[in-house]
Amino acid sequence: MKKIVVLTGAGISAESGIRTFRDSNGLWEEHRIEDVATFEAWQRNPDLVLDFYNQRRKQLYEVKPNAGHLALVELEKKFDVHIITQNVDDLHEQAGSSNVLHLHGELKKVRSTVDDRLVYTLDGWELKKGDLCEKGSQLRPHIVWFGEAVPMIEPAQRLSAQADIFVVIGTSLNVYPAAGLVYYVKKGIPVYLIDPQAEMLSGVQNLTVFRESAGTGVPKLVKQLVSGSEDAK
Ligand code: OAD
Repeated sequence: MKKIVVLTGAGISAESGIRTFRDSNGLWEEHRIEDVATFEAWQRNPDLVLDFYNQRRKQLYEVKPNAGHLALVELEKKFDVHIITQNVDDLHEQAGSSNVLHLHGELKKVRSTVDDRLVYTLDGWELKKGDLCEKGSQLRPHIVWFGEAVPMIEPAQRLSAQADIFVVIGTSLNVYPAAGLVYYVKKGIPVYLIDPQAEMLSGVQNLTVFRESAGTGVPKLVKQLVSGSEDAK
């Protein structure tokens, strides 16, 4: 079975009602990264950081996967599909995708501030001051903040290098190291890019761009791949 590796960003969840970061009306227009998404922010004003992620988590319980997430599940009928997502929502899992690697953490999880290995699934949407890990430290959102290491980048790079087909959906490719994954793919394999604002990717051969939303572009691409214009063997 051919291996399809899919890199997703906030754009794939936009049609589920989750705001992206850098579009107009994006989250980073209303909140400063340095106020809510760095370790320094957490040390300076944990209430603000907790509230920011609590609001995101609360919303996640109110939204559903859209046609883009669902189409990627269909792809598993014919391909070995691996999703690498920058998203902290769990809409790929809710849709039913089998292999999802989260590069930037997961909203529904929290972790210890003294031991990174102590990761828990939060019961409900609200993480509060005074919620402690088993070693007695305050729990923090299980999110990779700006300036922090990205522990899952190496498996993501390995997967990208193994891809027979690589698909990029709904990301501005502004944030590294995630944005560099496309340069790990083998030269000449088919690369597809689905994003209404898609630009050409310099240095990527064999690129096909769908300049449209995930909700229409992903089902279209999946239909094309499953119906065999791309050899699945
Ligand atoms: P961005 O907000 O930077 O980019 C969103 C992309 O989605 C843009 O290229 C849009 O054109 C596209 N888009 C918008 N609506 C779409 C739709 N309906 N269908 C398809 N595409 C659509 O989000 P990311 O690239 O995911 O990290 O941002 C990367 C990281 O920056 C995030 O993981 C987050 C953020 O800061 C952290 O918080 C650590």
